[in-house]
Amino acid sequence: MIILGGSASTELAEKVAKEMGAEPGRLELKRFPDGEKYVRVLDDVAGKDVAVVQSLYRTPDEYLFEYFLLVDALRDLGARSITGITPYLAYARQDSRFNPGEAVSCTATAKLIEAAGTTSFITVDTHLHRLENVSKVFRVPARNISAMPLLGQYALENLSPRKPVVIGPDAEAEPWAAATAKELDAEHTFFRKKRITSSKVEIDTGEVDLEGRDAVLADDIISTGGTIAEAAVACKKKGARKIYALCTHPVLATGALERLHAAGVEKVIGTDTIPSPISKVSVAPILARALKSKP
Ligand code: R5P
Repeated sequence: MIILGGSASTELAEKVAKEMGAEPGRLELKRFPDGEKYVRVLDDVAGKDVAVVQSLYRTPDEYLFEYFLLVDALRDLGARSITGITPYLAYARQDSRFNPGEAVSCTATAKLIEAAGTTSFITVDTHLHRLENVSKVFRVPARNISAMPLLGQYALENLSPRKPVVIGPDAEAEPWAAATAKELDAEHTFFRKKRITSSKVEIDTGEVDLEGRDAVLADDIISTGGTIAEAAVACKKKGARKIYALCTHPVLATGALERLHAAGVEKVIGTDTIPSPISKVSVAPILARALKSKP
């Protein structure tokens, strides 16, 4: 199998190739002076199985279009199969038409990924709360794997939380909290969240007792940090000793980390689905495992 990394995920693709004992494929990627992208595949891919790793963060439109050009070229060049891996699937949160006339960006993105020539698809902890399942969005075989066990293992080995309670900051995060808690051999629960604006939320903790215990908050995305910051403040009020935050996708809008530390979060840990200063956990092993097992 040939593993190719688009410009969003070159390092991650190299790690996945290493995990699989494969050489990373070679690409030439550049931008023309007029702003257009240039993509050239330097390996002979005819008749080969190819995987393309391209996370859709920060400049998702640019990375999505580069993905489109790359996969279209691979199909033209005769690749036998093309597995698309977008560890962070942008646009997944707009998975419904919430107001009349809105684009359903999630399904539109899936259509574009498929139209390029993707024959199977893998993503990580995607935010499909209303659709539940990634295979409801894609017609090609699609899988959503979870980084939470890796984050839980990291927390166990590096944070050593005392009498931990793993908490999902909202009801949708409950499965992520459960998967993390399993690695820590800890209890888990979840809060209830009401979103006021895109950066402001209100948290209802319910009956949880955190007196003298460490709280480990687990969520898919940290964007503005509003959700985790409010959850951290609520944990402190409930008597938590230390507060840690784990997330798969450190989107990290400007000021998010400062906001979390100001709210009392001791450490914030994320994965390399989005490269960032807190991306301490690599998803390469789970991507390699998914690629080795047939969809
Ligand atoms: C929302 O339901 C997600 O699971 C995250 O909680 C949310 O995207 C985090 O965003 P922010 O950091 O801006 O609160």
